[in-house]
Amino acid sequence: MPFPQDRPRRLRRTEALRRLVRETTLAPDDLVWPLFAVPGQRVRRPVSSMPGVFQLSVDELVAEAQAGFEAGVRAVILFGVPEAKDAAGSGATDDDGIIPRAVRALRAALPELLVMTDVCLCEYTDHGHCGVLAPQRAGGPGQELTVDNDRTLPLLAREAVAHARAGADVIAPSDMMDGRVAAIRRGLDEAGFGEVPILAYAAKFAGAFYGPFRDAAESAPVAGPGIPSDRRGYQMDPANWREALREVALDVAEGADMVMVKPAVPYLDVVRLVRDRFDLPLAAYHVSGEYAMIKAAAERGWIDGERVLLETLLCVRRAGADFVLTYGAREVAATLTGRRR
Ligand code: PBG
Repeated sequence: MPFPQDRPRRLRRTEALRRLVRETTLAPDDLVWPLFAVPGQRVRRPVSSMPGVFQLSVDELVAEAQAGFEAGVRAVILFGVPEAKDAAGSGATDDDGIIPRAVRALRAALPELLVMTDVCLCEYTDHGHCGVLAPQRAGGPGQELTVDNDRTLPLLAREAVAHARAGADVIAPSDMMDGRVAAIRRGLDEAGFGEVPILAYAAKFAGAFYGPFRDAAESAPVAGPGIPSDRRGYQMDPANWREALREVALDVAEGADMVMVKPAVPYLDVVRLVRDRFDLPLAAYHVSGEYAMIKAAAERGWIDGERVLLETLLCVRRAGADFVLTYGAREVAATLTGRRR
């Protein structure tokens, strides 16, 4: 032993010492709970690929949020399945749509709950894409249709305003159109919602981890003539970290108040890079596929699901995320408050 101080184990000897030198913490305040609103009453439909997650009618969603709040969950993010879908996703901009109704009900029942809303068209379009489709103008092989960036922007801005008018605390655009943060910021400001912050899904990667979410939100791209079969024309290539920094820089320049990296665990290098280079609050989304993998292994008895989930979320925080969106928010909050950490 060359130096007597080369004994890190000294600080691991007792629980009190370990707590004293702990560098990262995980608290209920760090969690945002995604909830799925569907039409109807007394609907509580389990999502088979996500144990513990339900499609909820607004009345049931309020009850669910109440239970979460009692467990310590202070923030939710809402996704909605509308009554009807069409090519333009018109349900998204309806002041009486599923999300505005859910927001108003939550506001009334739980005034202290922070309510974020996801802004995107994929739940509302009949083709399942995050924007409206138009003929591809540039040449090359492949689909004849593409998601029309600039015709989608005003729809996203109107959707954001509908959510803000209903009382949403934070607007979170997840569509990955270029320029959407600026368009939404302008829309909110012009409608008198200059105080409503934007959490931009800034670095959102196209990949295979969103499958269970698309079951819950009924938002998978629909196969059809000329329709792109996936979201790789607008979400990011999983191979690219420099481009992720460019996306974040653009969203910050356009007026984002907070930024997000998504998914979380396979992209912790990106979380760390964004943390080091930007000073805005940073979120990471522990997405449906990541949650489903933990639950599936836990159901088989192969891992201790509760401990793996806690460790995972702590490590996302260690990588640099200020807060984490997770389907496990309620159970994790209950565990943490139970242990009064
Ligand atoms: C909507 C949206 C998606 C997620 C959040 N917002 C799905 C997608 O891009 O297809 C995924 C969240 C998850 O998998 O948990 N665009």
